[in-house]
Amino acid sequence: MDDDHNSRLGSHVPPVDRLGRPLRDLRISVMDRCNFRCPYCMPEATYHEGFRFLGPKERLDFDEIEQVARMAAELGVTKIRLTGGEPLLRPGLPDLVRRLCALPGIEDVALTTNGVLLPRFVPALRQAGLRRVTVSLDSLDPVIFARMSGGRGSLPAVLEGIDAACAAGFEGGVKINTVVQRGVNDMDVPDILARFRHTGVTVRLIEYMDVGNRNGWDRADVVPSSELRARIAELWPLELLPPRYRGEVARRYRYADGAGEIGFVSSVSAPFCGACSRARLSSDGKLYTCLFATSGTDLRALLRGNAGDAEMDEQLRTTLSRIWRQRTDRYSEERTRQSALLASGEQAVRQEKIEMHYIGG
Ligand code: GTP
Ligand code: 5AD
Ligand code: SF4
Ligand code: SF4
Repeated sequence: MDDDHNSRLGSHVPPVDRLGRPLRDLRISVMDRCNFRCPYCMPEATYHEGFRFLGPKERLDFDEIEQVARMAAELGVTKIRLTGGEPLLRPGLPDLVRRLCALPGIEDVALTTNGVLLPRFVPALRQAGLRRVTVSLDSLDPVIFARMSGGRGSLPAVLEGIDAACAAGFEGGVKINTVVQRGVNDMDVPDILARFRHTGVTVRLIEYMDVGNRNGWDRADVVPSSELRARIAELWPLELLPPRYRGEVARRYRYADGAGEIGFVSSVSAPFCGACSRARLSSDGKLYTCLFATSGTDLRALLRGNAGDAEMDEQLRTTLSRIWRQRTDRYSEERTRQSALLASGEQAVRQEKIEMHYIGG
C-alpha cells in the first residue's frame, strides 16, 4: 500500500474479510435492462416483453451511486467497473463517469458493454475520464453471433463500436470478452483471435459459468482454459505473463511472435476466489459480496432514509465495513459441492442466485 493510499484512508482502518481479503474493486450495475438477449445471461424465454424490469425510481440515481462509491473508496476501493445489463442504456452515463473519476482514491474507471452504442458515446466517455473499455463479443460468424446475442444484436454495429473505442485512444486500452461454450462458439475462437492480433486489443476467453438460475448451465458446455490454450498454441505459440496485480481475474499470455496478448478467465477450472477483492452494487442499490450471491444488503433504503449528510456517511461507512468484514464468499472454489447439493434438489440449500443482469458481470 503506498503513502497516498494510507493517507486517503485516514483514521479509518480498511476492512479485510474473514479470509483476509481487502476491498479494492467496486463493480456497479447501472442498468438492469439490455438490448441483447444472450441465452447464457438473459434468455428470451424469461426476458420477454412482459418481463418487469426496474422502474427509473427503483434504480439508484447518480447522487446515490456516487455516495456509495465515495465511501467504498474511503474503505480501500481504487477500481470501479460500470456494468449492466447494458450500461450505455442508462441516460447520461458519461456524467456518472466524470463524477466517479473525480472521487479521491479512484484510480481507474472502466466500462463493460456489448458495444452497439459505443460509437455514439465514446467521445463523451473519453472526455469524462473513462480509462478502459471492455466489449463482449462471442463470435465473428453472423449466424452464431445472432444465436449468442438472442437475435437482437448486430455484429457490424459491435465491430463499429470496437473500432470507435480503439480510435478514441483510451488510456488503459480496449479488451474483448468472449464467453466460450462447447459446440456453440469454441470453433470461432481462432477467427476472433486472428482478427485482433496485432491490433493492441486483448481478447479474454471466459469459461462459461453458472451465473444466475436461468441459463441451464451444464459443466459439459464448459471448455476448460487448458484445452482451449492447447488448441490455440498449435496455431500461435503462447508464453505465460506474470499477473499484473494480486488476484487478477485473467491469466495473461503473449503470442510468442509479438502479436499481442490474450487472457483466460478460468473461474470453473481454476477458481480465483483466494484474492477476490470485488464488491458489486446492483442497479437497485443492493450490495453483494460475490457474483454468485444469493442475497445482498439493501443500501437504497439507507440512502433514502432521512439521516443528515454526516450521519448518512457514517451509516454507510459502518454498513459497508461490517458487510466486508463478515464476508466469507468463495463460490467458485466451492462450486462442485454447490452443484451437487442443487442437483440433489434439497430445499434447504436451493437458494436462488442473483441474476447476472442485476449484479453485473
Ligand atoms: P480487469 O482485469 O481490471 O480488466 O478486470 P476484470 O478482469 O475484472 O474484467 P472483466 O470485468 O471484464 O471480467 C471478465 C469476466 O470475468 C467477467 O465478465 C466475468 O465473466 C468474469 N469475472 C469477473 N469477475 C469475476 C469474479 O469475481 N468471479 C468470477 N467467478 N468471475 C468473474
Ligand atoms: N458465463 C461467463 N461469462 C458471462 N457473462 C455473462 N454471462 C456469463 C456466463 N454465464 C459475461 C459476458 C460479459 C460480461 C458482462 O459477463 O460475456 O462480457
Ligand atoms: Fe446483455 Fe451482456 Fe447479458 Fe448479453 S451478456 S444479455 S449483452 S448484459
Ligand atoms: Fe469472488 Fe465470488 Fe467470483 Fe470467487 S466466485 S472470485 S468470491 S465473486
